[in-house]
Amino acid sequence: MSNYHIKHLEEYYQVYRKSLRDPETFWAEVAEEHFMWRKKWDNVLSWDFTKPEIKWFEGAQLNITENCIDRHLRNRGHKTAILFEPNDPNEDAQHITYKQLHERVCKFANVLKEQGIAKGDRVCIYLPMIPELAISVLACARIGAVHSVVFAGFSATALSTRINDCEAKMVITSDGSYRGAKTIDLKGIVDEALEDCSGISSVLVAKRVGSDIQMKSGRDHWLEPLLEAAYKDCVPEIMDAEDPLFILYTSGSTGMPKGMLHTTAGYMVYTAYTFKNVFQYREDDIYWCTADIGWITGHSYIVYGPLANGATTVMFEGVPSYPDFGRFWDIVQKHKITQFYTAPTAIRALAKENLDYVTNRDLSSLKVLGTVGEPINEEAWHWYNDHVGDKKSPIVDTWWQTETGGIMISPIPYSTPTKPTYATLPMPGIQPALMDENGIEIKGNQVDGRLCIKFPWPSMARTIWGNHKRFKETYFSAFENKYFTGDGALRDEVGYYRITGRVDDVIIVSGHNLGTAPIEDAINEHPAVAESAIVGFPHDIKGNALYGYVILKETGESRDRDNLSKEVNQQITDKIGPIAKLDKIQFVPGLPKTRSGKIMRRILRKIASKDTSNLGDTSTLLNPEVVKEIMDKAL
Ligand code: PRX
Repeated sequence: MSNYHIKHLEEYYQVYRKSLRDPETFWAEVAEEHFMWRKKWDNVLSWDFTKPEIKWFEGAQLNITENCIDRHLRNRGHKTAILFEPNDPNEDAQHITYKQLHERVCKFANVLKEQGIAKGDRVCIYLPMIPELAISVLACARIGAVHSVVFAGFSATALSTRINDCEAKMVITSDGSYRGAKTIDLKGIVDEALEDCSGISSVLVAKRVGSDIQMKSGRDHWLEPLLEAAYKDCVPEIMDAEDPLFILYTSGSTGMPKGMLHTTAGYMVYTAYTFKNVFQYREDDIYWCTADIGWITGHSYIVYGPLANGATTVMFEGVPSYPDFGRFWDIVQKHKITQFYTAPTAIRALAKENLDYVTNRDLSSLKVLGTVGEPINEEAWHWYNDHVGDKKSPIVDTWWQTETGGIMISPIPYSTPTKPTYATLPMPGIQPALMDENGIEIKGNQVDGRLCIKFPWPSMARTIWGNHKRFKETYFSAFENKYFTGDGALRDEVGYYRITGRVDDVIIVSGHNLGTAPIEDAINEHPAVAESAIVGFPHDIKGNALYGYVILKETGESRDRDNLSKEVNQQITDKIGPIAKLDKIQFVPGLPKTRSGKIMRRILRKIASKDTSNLGDTSTLLNPEVVKEIMDKAL
C-alpha cells in the first residue's frame, strides 16, 4: 500500500491509523518515495511543545525548487507548469512549461544574486498575480533567500511595517496592476512605503501596465533588462531541512501582524502530500486555485504543492466579476479545469448573480471542488454542489491556517462521504483534540470545544519571525502541550469535524483574517477619535462584515458624521488596506466596559448582529447605561 495516494475510504483509515501509530516511519516513507534529497535526514522528528521547538527531517539537505522544477524536466519538460490567465479576457493566456519555468526561475535567481541577495536574506515581494510573482518566489527559494510576499492589496503602511519587521533588503514589485476595470499604481504604494524603510537597498520593477512611473536612481531597476542579460542556469543552493523558506504575515488579535516562519523540508513534504490527496491530482489535470499568492493558500496550493507534484497550476490575474460574473466559469470552460479551489465568499457573491452565468458554460471537466478560508454556510455549499459541480464533483471543505502551512482537515474526494458545512476528517498525521475551558480534552463524539492539535505535523510554522515568545504565548500556552488553533469546532456522531469559527478577536471577512486591535489602532489615530471598538456581524456575501463603535473627542463632536465615517474608513484604508474597511460606523457616547476596563465585546457583537433579546448580565459593567444608548441608535 502506498502511503502517498489514498484512493478509497478504507485506505484512508488504514493510512490514518498508521500515521498515528508511527508518525516518523509514516512521514519518512512519504519523504523517501516522492522527493529529491541531496542528503537524507539523520532524524525524522524532534519536538517539544513547551519550548516550542519542532524539527522535521533534521540533517537532510535539499532545494525545494529542484523538487518543484528540475526533477520534472526529464519527463515533463514540455508540460505546462504555470498557466497564466490575464485580467483581460482578450489578452492571450500564457503556458509556461517546466523547461521555461526552469529558465525563468534561474535567470531571476541570478538577478537576485547580482543585486547582492544571498542565502538567508529577506526579500519582500509585492506583486499582482502575474507569472513574475510565482517565479520570484521560486527564485528566492533557489538561492536560499527568504521570501516574504505581501498581498498587493495592502496599503503602504502595512507594507512598510512588514518590510521593517523582517528587515528585508529588497522589494520586488511592478509598475502597476490590473484588477478588473481598474489599474492600481503599485509602484507608487511601494515608494510611499519605502520612505519609512531604510534597509531596502534595491527595488526590482516588473513591467505590467506600462504606466509612467518614477524610478529612483541607484535603488530602482527595471526587471526585464536584468533578466535578459542574466545567465539561464543557476545552481540551486543546498539548504538544510530546517532552513527558513518564507515568512508570511497574518493578523493576530492584538498588535503587530505575526510573521509566520515556515521552513523547507517539512513544508515541502506536507503541502505536496496534501495536494495530491485532497485534490486527487492526476497527471493530465488542470488545477486552478483562485486565491492570491499573497496568502498562504496561494503559497501552498498554487506554487509549492502543485509544482512539487509536476502539476499544471493556473494563475488568474483578475477578479470574478470582470468583465462579468461569468468569468470564473469562462475560465473553467476555456482551460478545461479539473480541480477548482475557491473561497466561500466568492461562491456567495456568484450565487447572487443570474444562474445563466453558470449554466451557459460547459463545466463538465470539473472533478473536484474546494473551499477554504472560513466556514461555508449550507446554502452556499448546496449552490456550489448543485450548479457548479452538477452534484457529481465532491466538495472538499478544507480547514487550515497560515500557521499550519497545509490542509489539516478535509474530505478526500471520492473516498470521504461529504456533509455540508463539515470539513470532515483529519489528514493523515493530524491529531485534533477538542478542549474544554478548563483545559481538559473532550473525548468521544457529539461534542464541541476549542480546536487544538496535539502532535506535530511537518508543515507547521516554527516561530514568529523575531518573536518566539509571542509564538509560544499565542499557540502553545492556552492548552498544555498542544497547538491551539484559535478556532472552535464540533465533532459529530461519526467523528466529522465542523469548524464553528474563531474564539478570539480575529474576524474573518471575505476569508481574510482581520485582527480587531490593528483596525482600532488605525481608527484611534484619527484626530477626532477618542476610542473605538470593532466587532463582526453576519453578512450575506462576506461571511462577516465589520461594525465599528467610535467615541469622538470633544473636538470632533461638532463634525458631520457622514464625513467622519468616510475619513475613518480612509484612515483604515491608508493604514491597513481596503479589505479592513467598516461596513457600519456608529458614533457612541461610551463603550460598555468591565470594572477592570475591558470592553465587553460580547454585548457589542450582539447589538451589531441585531440579537439583543438576551444580552446576558450587564450589571457587572462599569457603565451599564451606555448599553441602552448604543442599542437605541444601532445601525
Ligand atoms: O478560522 C479558520 C478559518 O480561517 C482561519 C485561518 O485563516 P488564514 O490563516 O488566513 O488561512 C486561511 C487559508 C488557509 C482559521 O483559523 N478557516 C480556514 N478554512 C476554513 C476556516 N473556517 C472554517 N472552515 C474552513 N474550511
